Amino acid sequence: MSDLFGFSNINELALAGAAATLIITFIAIAIYFKNIAGSKSSSELSDGAWDGIKEYKNPLPLGWAISFLGLGIWAIWYMFAGYPLNAYSQIGEYNEEVAEHNAKFEQKWQNADEATLKNMGESIFLVQCAPCHGLTGDGLDGKIAADLTKWGTEASIVSSVLHGSKGLGYDLIEMLPKLDGLIENESDIELAKEYLVKYLAKTKEVVAADEATKEYEAEAWIVCSACHGEDGTGSGAPDLTKYGKPEFVVDVLNRGKNGFIGSMPSFDDGRLTEIQKTAVGTYVLSLRR
Ligand code: HEC
Ligand code: HEC
Repeated sequence: MSDLFGFSNINELALAGAAATLIITFIAIAIYFKNIAGSKSSSELSDGAWDGIKEYKNPLPLGWAISFLGLGIWAIWYMFAGYPLNAYSQIGEYNEEVAEHNAKFEQKWQNADEATLKNMGESIFLVQCAPCHGLTGDGLDGKIAADLTKWGTEASIVSSVLHGSKGLGYDLIEMLPKLDGLIENESDIELAKEYLVKYLAKTKEVVAADEATKEYEAEAWIVCSACHGEDGTGSGAPDLTKYGKPEFVVDVLNRGKNGFIGSMPSFDDGRLTEIQKTAVGTYVLSLRR
């Protein structure tokens, strides 16, 4: 018969246990009923009545109180140490596998050269960025998202100051157009930009050490240094020595931008690994014309 139902010893034992529990329960209930039927309570009745029904002032049964407290303690243990918060889950396993894969990915590409990064960045761009910035990166001529064929250039440093910039979430919050009147001659922005790219960011070769010009340009930078720092690295405002480099794009991706053109979400949610962010930054900067 065991074979017929595919029963194992364990199943039979469990079945016997269940039957015994059921029988003992019935007997216990029967004993309780018998006692209740034959008993006359001697204790006092409480004052309150519900629809004419009154309650005896009996002390809480000790066994009941212990099981009640015990159940509460067990519930807390179950929630935090037992199953729900510590158990295996498919999402947990998925997250672990993704983290493991990402670690391998970072390891494999940590020394990727520029061409590799650019190729990797292009495929990321087509999926993650092109929906807003467009396949060619110009964001419909900069109308729906930043025109990345112009952004990150020397000219865009100047136009940022002319038109202002906001939404990256720095402590100083916003750079007002023409610094809210601090800039009188637009040519001063050009001079400040020259000082930045030649001596601070070192992205442009210094053709001849013309001290007079350098001083001139340095003077124009003073107004910027109030927020971006004497050496351009800033703290409440962006580090401009990284402007036009992949690191700056990575910073933009981590922050997102709620600017004048529109909103770009932050990519700081694990969607992209650090190397993928650098890669897409490298690609974006290669779009500049
Ligand atoms: C009052 C403080 C302040 C001053 C002065 C200032 N900036 Fe800024 N600048 C900021 C802040 C804040 C941001 C970040 C704005 C944002 O969130 O987009 C910024 C951003 C920038 C950016 C990056 C824009 C972008 O699109 O990412 C450039 C380039 C820049 N500033 C250049 C300059 C130059 C050049 C000067 C001097 C002529 C200057 N700034 C003076 C506060 C300032
Ligand atoms: C949901 C639309 C959207 C997506 C997706 C998006 N962007 Fe943007 N991005 C914008 C908008 C809008 C702006 C302009 C914000 C402003 O200045 O008003 C912008 C601005 C930028 C800027 C200029 C930031 C600055 O400091 O001015 C860069 C660089 C950039 N995006 C890169 C990327 C990259 C790389 C991706 C893909 C990983 C991406 N964006 C995905 C909408 C998007």
